[in-house]
Amino acid sequence: MLVAPSILSADFGHLDQEVRAICNAGCDLVHVDVMDGHFVPNLTIGPVVVEAVAKAATKPLDIHLMVQNNSFFVDLFAPLKPKYLSFHIEEEKHVHRLIQKIRSYDISPCVVLNPHRGLEDLEYIIDDLDMVLLMSVNPGFGGQKFIPTVLEKAKRLRDLIDKRGAKTLIEVDGGVSDKNIHALKDAGVDVVVAGSYVYGNSDYAKAIERLKV
Ligand code: DX5
Ligand code: ZN
Repeated sequence: MLVAPSILSADFGHLDQEVRAICNAGCDLVHVDVMDGHFVPNLTIGPVVVEAVAKAATKPLDIHLMVQNNSFFVDLFAPLKPKYLSFHIEEEKHVHRLIQKIRSYDISPCVVLNPHRGLEDLEYIIDDLDMVLLMSVNPGFGGQKFIPTVLEKAKRLRDLIDKRGAKTLIEVDGGVSDKNIHALKDAGVDVVVAGSYVYGNSDYAKAIERLKV
């Protein structure tokens, strides 16, 4: 299992130290939640702060856009060269076009599905994606309760990906902890995002280690 701690739960008064700490503690990716106050009822950070995060990080960035006007934000964050750039399918009319645009920046495209959303939209784009992010909470805030229906969705997605012989990774975000990590592994999940579980633990390395099942 790859582990991507979400810096949303970090101490923003010491953000560079908090980013270095998770990298030194053995994380695989640094998950950055960008919220615009429109798509979700919360507002987080823009490219100026994410640039500072990128400088402090020794692991690749995994940027999760929770915004309206995805294309504008893709142009804004692409120069920071994240490994993954994820956008919500609920907020995009031209999903295929946006995937190509992200790819043209040499960044791995990822689409995100909210908890209510089925897998139908993925049928004709799965081969173009490097990762699919399944939300296991409603986006907007850290520290929420895990929605267990994501497990069945992940299994179905695993089947779809395997049947197609695609290399697409499955990422799950929200309420991930040592309580559900084995179920996520069994469901075929490749990457977990964990904010409050990692940053709420006094020993980041131990918390990350417990998720690497
Ligand atoms: C929620 C964000 C998550 C959040 C996860 O909208 O996408 O990345 O930070 O936080 P936890 O792990 O605390 O649920
Ligand atoms: Zn996220």
